[in-house]
Amino acid sequence: MSRQLEKIKELITKREKARLGGGEKAIEKQHERGKYTARERIDMLVDEGSFEEYDMFKLHRSHNFGMEKKQFLGDGVVAGSATIDGRLVYVYAQDFTVNGGSLSETMSQKICKVMDMAMQNGAPMICVNDSGGARIQEGICALAGYGEIFERNILASGVIPQISAIFGPCAGGAVYSPALTDFTLMTEGTSYMFLTGPKVVKTVTGEDVDAESLGGASVHSTKSGVTHFTAKTEEEGIALIKKLLSYIPSNNMETAPVVECNDPINRMEDSLNEILPEDPNQAYDMYKVITAITDNGEFFEVQPKFAKNIITGFARFNGQSVGIVANQPAAYAGVLDVNASRKGARFVRFCDAFNIPIVSLVDVPGFLPGTGQEYNAVILHGAQLLYAYGEATVPKITINLRKSYGGSHIVMGCKQLRSDLNFAWPSAEIAVMGAGGAVAVLYAKEAKTHEDPRSFLAEKEEEYTEMFANPYQAAQYGYIDDVIEPRNTRFRICRGLAQLANKRQSLPAKKHGCMPM
Ligand code: HXC
Repeated sequence: MSRQLEKIKELITKREKARLGGGEKAIEKQHERGKYTARERIDMLVDEGSFEEYDMFKLHRSHNFGMEKKQFLGDGVVAGSATIDGRLVYVYAQDFTVNGGSLSETMSQKICKVMDMAMQNGAPMICVNDSGGARIQEGICALAGYGEIFERNILASGVIPQISAIFGPCAGGAVYSPALTDFTLMTEGTSYMFLTGPKVVKTVTGEDVDAESLGGASVHSTKSGVTHFTAKTEEEGIALIKKLLSYIPSNNMETAPVVECNDPINRMEDSLNEILPEDPNQAYDMYKVITAITDNGEFFEVQPKFAKNIITGFARFNGQSVGIVANQPAAYAGVLDVNASRKGARFVRFCDAFNIPIVSLVDVPGFLPGTGQEYNAVILHGAQLLYAYGEATVPKITINLRKSYGGSHIVMGCKQLRSDLNFAWPSAEIAVMGAGGAVAVLYAKEAKTHEDPRSFLAEKEEEYTEMFANPYQAAQYGYIDDVIEPRNTRFRICRGLAQLANKRQSLPAKKHGCMPM
């Protein structure tokens, strides 16, 4: 064999060794835990044959605690570039088979390298987490490695989409990288995220809690809102990430891919003319409205299990990607509260950062009253949603379906927040507050002295409803651009988006605003 061929053979052998990560036994153990390896995950995620790996031969440099004997080619993370549906992405997957995927200085350098490449080349960054956290043997160098990653997460925010998949442990300060990214996905039963694990919790607070109840997928998808998506399996999770990518652009200078649309834009949806219950206080399902108007009835929901009183997600109109924000009358009457505001604000900001128009479907009775909300800063969180809408310069189309009262009317993409097109169904009730509350204030004195205050107030309530519970007062002032037939909603949105395709709007020059948080 020639010298050159020998060298090539050596390369092939080294590559094979690197591909085994922590070795066959460790891979077997990883499978026994119900998890795939880093390379298997990347294979499932990207287009076949498209993955180009970098730093496959990189080694850690620690000599503490006998670490020099624990060397594996590539050191605990597989990183590189690839395509998904033909579009460039950068990806890293922590390799739990190598020292529990713990983060060394070297691993951080590998991760930072692909993050820098993603930024320079305007491509999404996909981060697959499965790690025991900072490599304990490396001490401060591992911690500094996290700092380097976090800084890049921050700088990349709003420039390229960043998506985190949590397919195993993600504990301690390590959770801050996913938290800084745009979307987080967790697998059910095999992943968890928490700042301090069950043992520390027990020591510090005395509370008994297991890992699942402290930071499993169900907790973060329903209670904390930390995760946007959950999946039963890693395969399902990867399919969700691919679908999400199909709705978003590769960077903030591009628009989302447009797909061919076979659904007529002027499709009349007669069912919408009769979708509202007779009693305006009765609920109906906003999902039915969404799927009636979007291309082929498709809707990709973001945070489906958290703050169900507001719905957020992606859909298409005439093939163009939009973000939908909708109140859900079927969950707590669609009221706005702390969690709904947080959820809505974050979604609106993502859409605005990445040139995705926002379509808002409004049926909101107001903000949830009470100490529970006030003590948890509903003022600030409501202001967050307000700020997000008011700051957004992407095309904004708002449809008022039914209730639209008080502060919640203003917050949900009203005209004064520079919304481009504001339409109302004839059933819209746009007023400063609900009839009951309004007459109780307006006629408090008269009611006190009236011989039959109940029927007096009921009569006044009817008067108020007649006067204000309609869209025409708002239309009279130009706060509503048009009152439309519900069945025509899809067409008006499609036509509106076409009109707004070249919209240009900017914000006053500033370093950044001080968003209420
Ligand atoms: C070095 C680690 C490690 C770590 C795991 N390993 N975590 N090595 N540093 N942080 C090693 C284990 O020693 C073991 O090595 C291998 O990875 C697999 O781990 P197991 O314990 O056998 O796996 P499992 O039973 O599945 O348990 C997984 C685990 C557990 C729950 C993650 O390993 C664990 O509790 N690890 C420590 C977690 C932790 O406290 N991390 C530090 C957090 S502080 P061998 O050689 O035996 O196969 C932190 C600060 C970040 O991260 C701050 C950022 C700002």
